[in-house]
Amino acid sequence: MRSEQTLTAPNASALSLQVAEWLITRLASSSGRRSIALSGGSTPLALFRCLARPEQARRIDWQHLHIFWSDERWVPYTDARSNYGAAYESLLRHVPIPSHNIHPVPTEHSPEHAAKDYARTLQAFYGSPNLDPAQPLFDAVLLGIGADGHTASLFPGQEAPAAMEQWAMAARPEGQLPRVTLTVPVLNSTAALAFLVTGQQKRDIVARVRKGEAGLPASRIDPTGDLVWFLDHAAAGSVH
Ligand code: 6PG
Repeated sequence: MRSEQTLTAPNASALSLQVAEWLITRLASSSGRRSIALSGGSTPLALFRCLARPEQARRIDWQHLHIFWSDERWVPYTDARSNYGAAYESLLRHVPIPSHNIHPVPTEHSPEHAAKDYARTLQAFYGSPNLDPAQPLFDAVLLGIGADGHTASLFPGQEAPAAMEQWAMAARPEGQLPRVTLTVPVLNSTAALAFLVTGQQKRDIVARVRKGEAGLPASRIDPTGDLVWFLDHAAAGSVH
């Protein structure tokens, strides 16, 4: 039976430690090969730095953990806006994770080409092109929410993926970098999904998404496993 929880903390730093401990516990509760999908943006950076600290890092079985991304901006990995680059610099280069366990979204050719490529990578990892709710693709997915209700790189008003079974797609949000994003069914294929949101400026959108407001991509997130809201008090408002 899946659960939905809301955990709050006074500030982003305390929240990051809470998320790190939650993730460590989740990963320790399963055996064999494990996989997580990381979101981009600025909020998870404090979490990544926390996971890189010895007192957290030594409790993760990096040899059996595979890292994917919920989305990526169309920039070189060395660009400060790269989600992979940010995770590598703040976490992955500091921990003993085998390089073949790290699966960044490719950023060659075109976002459309990269989306097809990444879908193939995910399907090869999963072992099938068809997601089975009883066998989630990820052990955990970490997502942020933008002030407009986007999550990953699924933006309001964006056309739905061409085919429902599309695992990844190109996104070209108005006035922003082109991106590649996992689609909703793939993000939902997880044993646990955590929204990590901080700051007063997100309070309104958090409340709207939690009410399931239509038209907000974050409202379409409905994981097969557990859903956890990690909110600092500023983003949580009256929730905490
Ligand atoms: C991205 C993210 C995106 C992010 C939200 C929140 O690549 O931008 O995946 O979905 O999670 O925009 O970003 P902040 O954490 O910077 O507020």
